[in-house]
Amino acid sequence: MIELEGIEKVYDSPARRVLQRIDVRIESGEHVAITGGSGAGKSTLMNIIGCLDRPTAGQYRLDGEELASRSDSYRSGVRNRRIGFVFQLFHLLPRLTVMENVLLPVMYSNTSLRDAETRARGLLARVGLADRAADRPNILSGGQQQRVAIVRALINEPALILADEPTGNLDGAAAAGVLELFDTLVGGGQTLVLVTHDPSVAARASRVLEIAAGEIVNDTRRPS
Ligand SMILES: Nc1ncnc2c1ncn2[C@@H]1O[C@H](COP(=O)(O)OP(=O)(O)OP(=O)(O)O)[C@@H](O)[C@H]1O
Ligand SMILES: [Mg+2]
Repeated sequence: MIELEGIEKVYDSPARRVLQRIDVRIESGEHVAITGGSGAGKSTLMNIIGCLDRPTAGQYRLDGEELASRSDSYRSGVRNRRIGFVFQLFHLLPRLTVMENVLLPVMYSNTSLRDAETRARGLLARVGLADRAADRPNILSGGQQQRVAIVRALINEPALILADEPTGNLDGAAAAGVLELFDTLVGGGQTLVLVTHDPSVAARASRVLEIAAGEIVNDTRRPS
């Protein structure tokens, strides 16, 4: 599903090579955890896979289609239809309610709003937020906002879910709820790539990629 070949990312000011020699294939249905120290390049790599950022060299193919060189609008279209992205810093819109935030990706798709709203209620209930749909995000706790961001990423039932530290702000119970939801999705065939600092979260993945100083230094598959 995901093919990264010779991916490199260099920032100009200050000049800094943040990713280099990234060569990875991720198959459809895989559950991959990306680990590594702060500043290693994990979010940069996720942003490239999520079509939010471009590599300075190398090729990125999603389902066989080269995307690194396509226009911004084409890449946004791909992101809206096929990718659900959970940001490290939620990016919820403060003037919209929880339900409106969750339904944002639906506005850019062909899905019926009524079906999406039913799905949104189901997902909000699964993460323990059934009664918060009408609230604005800024009156929710950090962990609650994180769960809203996760529901928003799942609302269009994307084939690929990218989650950058999805449990970083959650306590044990809330994290377990989110991880069970992810397990269900992967069980249903969706592909999941998540960044985590938490060894117990990484332990649930079928494969762990470790990044250090912009390079993949370990690629471990668990026996299934
Ligand atoms: N826009 C930018 N311009 C210049 N340097 C950047 C930019 N964005 C990120 N960097 C640098 O790239 C490196 C990798 O950052 P990245 O956010 O990918 O790390 P990370 O592995 O996600 O870390 P964390 O675990 O703290 O989230 C860092 O050294 C960071 O300072
Ligand atoms: Mg990061």
